[in-house]
Amino acid sequence: QEQTGIKGNLDGKKVLISAGPTQEKIDPVRFFTNRSTGKMGFALAEAAAELGADVTLVAGPVSLETTLSSIKRIDVITAEEMYQAMHNHFSFNDIVIKAAAVADYRPKHTYVEKMKKQPGEWNVEMERTQDILQTLGEEKDQQFLVGFAAETANPLEYGLKKLAKKKLNAIIINNVSAHGAGFGADTNIATYVNTSGQPEEISLTSKRDMAFQVFAKIDRDMKDEKL
Ligand code: CTP
Ligand code: CA
Repeated sequence: QEQTGIKGNLDGKKVLISAGPTQEKIDPVRFFTNRSTGKMGFALAEAAAELGADVTLVAGPVSLETTLSSIKRIDVITAEEMYQAMHNHFSFNDIVIKAAAVADYRPKHTYVEKMKKQPGEWNVEMERTQDILQTLGEEKDQQFLVGFAAETANPLEYGLKKLAKKKLNAIIINNVSAHGAGFGADTNIATYVNTSGQPEEISLTSKRDMAFQVFAKIDRDMKDEKL
């Protein structure tokens, strides 16, 4: 059954969320991206708005719509554009959640004209993008900063490392190869871990319901002086 949390428990709060993949262009007809569809991030944005928050949603290229007028949507394409949008809004927000699947690498060169095929191999040189979440962690002052971890192996171990390294207040660890979880699905399974290091399982449920469960935990943790 649907759990919708306590209505209004984000009244007056400002929430910044990033969702979806990024696309990194190689030429006018080709790009690198990943399997993210933005569903979890959009579910979080909608739940936050329904709970009374003023929401800014930074969305990568996705085919989803938002209907709630209290969600301010900013569309971006690349990791660099997402970096700019997140940093522009970061200081004005109370809760910041990075649900986006940001490209870790982009082509070192972007061709102005379409690359024509040639005999033999084509080796595309890739360079690292900035880790947006890590830079937000470094800039953090009063914000409650939440990251996601997409893992296919050792989810808890890798997730805990990301929580510490990126100076997060909480991480939502997704085993993206689990049945009923991950990219494109309407359901998800995750583990929420705050700075106490104590994992809390969120069992198989709709992404909408998971979003409300996540905000219930964030609300609890923001009130906990020991965290
Ligand atoms: N993230 C980000 N900027 C990047 C890469 C990741 O902000 N360039 C954020 C994601 O939005 C997510 C978190 O970092 O909230 C973890 O992303 P994930 O891909 O699981 O971890 P990485 O740190 O990129 O490590 P790896 O992909 O090697 O597991
Ligand atoms: Ca990554």
